[in-house]
Amino acid sequence: MSGSRKLFIKSFGCQMNVYDSHRMADAMAREGYVETGRPEEADLVVLNTYNIREKATEKVYSDLGRFRTMKEAAQQEGRRMTVTVAGCVAQAEGEEIRRRAPYVDLVVGPQNIHRLPGLVARGRAAVDTEFPVEDKFDHLAPPARKNIRARGVTAFVTVQEGCDKFCTFCVVPYTRGNEVSRPVNKIVAEVEHLAAAGVAEVTLIGQNVNAYHGEGPDGRTWPLAQLFERIADVPGIERIRYTTSHPRDMSEDLIAAHRDIPKLMPFLHLPVQSGSDRILKIMNRKHGRGEYLDIVARVRTARPDIALSSDFIVGFPGETEEDFEDTLDLVHKVRFASAYSFKYSARPGTQAAEMDEQVPEEVKSERLYRLQHLLEEQRQAFNRDLCGREFDVLFEKPGRLEGQIAGRAPYLMPVQVMGPSHLIGKVARVRITEAGSNSLFGELVTPVPDYQQEPRKLAAAGVS
Ligand code: 5AD
Ligand code: SF4
Repeated sequence: MSGSRKLFIKSFGCQMNVYDSHRMADAMAREGYVETGRPEEADLVVLNTYNIREKATEKVYSDLGRFRTMKEAAQQEGRRMTVTVAGCVAQAEGEEIRRRAPYVDLVVGPQNIHRLPGLVARGRAAVDTEFPVEDKFDHLAPPARKNIRARGVTAFVTVQEGCDKFCTFCVVPYTRGNEVSRPVNKIVAEVEHLAAAGVAEVTLIGQNVNAYHGEGPDGRTWPLAQLFERIADVPGIERIRYTTSHPRDMSEDLIAAHRDIPKLMPFLHLPVQSGSDRILKIMNRKHGRGEYLDIVARVRTARPDIALSSDFIVGFPGETEEDFEDTLDLVHKVRFASAYSFKYSARPGTQAAEMDEQVPEEVKSERLYRLQHLLEEQRQAFNRDLCGREFDVLFEKPGRLEGQIAGRAPYLMPVQVMGPSHLIGKVARVRITEAGSNSLFGELVTPVPDYQQEPRKLAAAGVS
């Protein structure tokens, strides 16, 4: 095994891609590859691509141009650079990538990332985008402790992949395939491994995470809420989060979990996309605005302080001003703590791309501006309301200023306080004093407890 080979990996888009990139880096670490931030010195370059909203395909081709030059420079030095395109664009484009960019060596779909080490070792050009029969997770190396540490005290864990909902605007069911849940035991083993290396917060991720229905150790099918309970028992895990959820799968037991499981953070990302019943129907969202508002009310009954977040699309084909106003009205009614909003972008192969009445670009821009303005007001109002409140913060890293440490509120926004660096990786109580534009500022409520300051002295005094 040579320790000198270098891997440059660039991840675009969503958390699922961040997770996949980590796992590819872990798999290649086993083969002796170390990560570098400098692509020009890399032996293996991986672009982990994303095409859910953007005209990402053209961007990938233009990004690739740079690697062609680097690859040629490497060749002149007598070095081989293997250029890989992974992720959703790889899945959607397949062979076409190598036709248009013949200097690309490997094209690897999201379900085939476990085959990367084998493909690299073979040293031949290949396109691997078939949905494999084997489970990629069974073939992926667990991350090394030092990689986990380098990534910090929070980690993503994929528990579910793919989607069967077929919203008419969305490519995910085509690029990520059918909805599949990982078995409970495997997820728990991964979480235990992360926790043993110092991870205190896990975010369970999936394109449709609340549709989770994995095989439990008792042979039954476990829903997400039951998985939370099991993960809450893993020593070292202080916080659990999950994303992304679909309103149709917001079951009663999951709502109750927000009341009953203290480690489940009071944050729910629940995309609604539109507030118009007419548009929701054409989007094939399988729920109306009334159902969404009803879920929100039930979630708030279970956990009154919960921070709600959502995704919105403006300018879906046929969206009228009245439809859009229904969206604004829904936002007024819910009051979101944060949100993502996008202009509709026609994705080849989806039903909506074929629909008449595509909305002009300037109308989309104007609606997006109005929606984002309202959402931003709500975000700031939510943050302002936290001033004077006390809650636990999980500290993740040094803060921006000398002597500061930074972490996250239960509601997910960043929090900065003056405090000792040994609190990084730990949860401490904070009183919020100020809401900045992006972060909250606060102070530690109790001075750092003795047991965290001087463990040896306390042990000597017989305190454990
Ligand atoms: N155009 C714009 N936004 C989209 N999204 C998904 N597909 C499209 C599209 N074609 C958004 C949705 C989804 C988020 C991940 O991306 O809001 O919830
Ligand atoms: Fe795409 Fe989400 Fe709809 Fe599935 S539920 S098709 S991932 S928008």
